[in-house]
Amino acid sequence: MESSSTQASSVVPFGETISLDQYVREIENLSKGLITKQAIADLVLRYRIPAEDLARHKSWNPAKHTRNLIFRNQMIELMLICWNSGTVTPLHTHNGQLGWMVVVEGTLLVENYRMKNCNKPENQQVVGIDCVAGATEIDMELLGTEKVTPWSALNTVDKTQTIHRILNPPEHGGPAVSLHIYSQPIDSCVVFDMENQRCARRDLSYDTKPE
Ligand SMILES: [Fe+2]
Repeated sequence: MESSSTQASSVVPFGETISLDQYVREIENLSKGLITKQAIADLVLRYRIPAEDLARHKSWNPAKHTRNLIFRNQMIELMLICWNSGTVTPLHTHNGQLGWMVVVEGTLLVENYRMKNCNKPENQQVVGIDCVAGATEIDMELLGTEKVTPWSALNTVDKTQTIHRILNPPEHGGPAVSLHIYSQPIDSCVVFDMENQRCARRDLSYDTKPE
């Protein structure tokens, strides 16, 4: 995930507060046309959502981050992710999809990686998913680490930069919350176990959904 250097030119980043309902309507409208990285970036960089609108979508698990669905259709999904102190994702891909993330509370670290080599590159030649996984030799390069604070930056994943992990280290001293958009929705991804030199597909699910 890279911090996008793209800024909406005519507006103060995150300067306009709108309700979560309105935000969802705008995302839904954009999802009816051609979805580009820039189009969603412009939307995300423009708006800020009141904390009270997001509060009803929060849930917490001491052992892991929680994925809380706000909106989904065939083309796009919006979710709130809650990170207890010390939670960390495995190193993972995004199934060839595009993703946009904004931290709304606390501070997260994003580590971006690039796969240099694996011993099953042919497993990426598959329709509908990014890779069937199953490699037993994986060479991964850490490209950089970003520290992200609330409403300060847009982080993205795309077809070029798809591997990262996200951490809320204990030294940050508290929970964090982030807003994520994915297009198309991501129902599974590849996770990497670098210590044991393995990768595998993992199904993704939601901890909470709208009523
Ligand atoms: Fe991710």
